[in-house]
Amino acid sequence: MKLLLLLLCLGLTLVCGHAEEASFERGNLDVDKLNGDWFSIVVASDKREKIEENGSMRVFVQHIDVLENSLGFTFRIKENGVCTEFSLVADKTAKDGEYFVEYDGENTFTILKTDYDNYVMFHLVNVNNGETFQLMELYGRTKDLSSDIKEKFAKLCVAHGITRDNIIDLTKTDRCLQARG
Ligand SMILES: *[C@@H]1O[C@H](CO)[C@@H](O)[C@H](O)[C@H]1NC(C)=O
Repeated sequence: MKLLLLLLCLGLTLVCGHAEEASFERGNLDVDKLNGDWFSIVVASDKREKIEENGSMRVFVQHIDVLENSLGFTFRIKENGVCTEFSLVADKTAKDGEYFVEYDGENTFTILKTDYDNYVMFHLVNVNNGETFQLMELYGRTKDLSSDIKEKFAKLCVAHGITRDNIIDLTKTDRCLQARG
């Protein structure tokens, strides 16, 4: 009986472990499926002031337009208490799955993980005047995501050297949702 239970548990672990990886392998991302509306859920950085109130990277995504050789992002940012809309276009680089955009310096980013229908996780490196920092973002198709996905994202941040106190859950803050209508 004990052995049976053990085997059952092992079997389930394999199935669950497999399901979790059902997103995509690096290089076979179907980027078209990222098109559409998104919400910023969690943001993390090893330069915390960038994602704190009034920080340049505390931006709230509304929409991703998948274009031929680029990704168009529409964001809101809160400046002097006002929610302003702005757009950025990130161009594909020569490296598979990598994009580049100028905004508060030079930004290179990749898509780390997505299941297309619920969440997407980005990793970005910013270089500005010889200084560099990392930014990681979790977007959701809905205004919030399960604690499971958030925890998976937090672990990924830690794996990239971003400490837990530099991970900010934006769902508990003003994300300019009222401006979005
Ligand atoms: C952000 O900017 C607003 C408006 O200028 C200001 O009232 C607020 O104190 C700032 N917040 C921080 C954390 O600096």
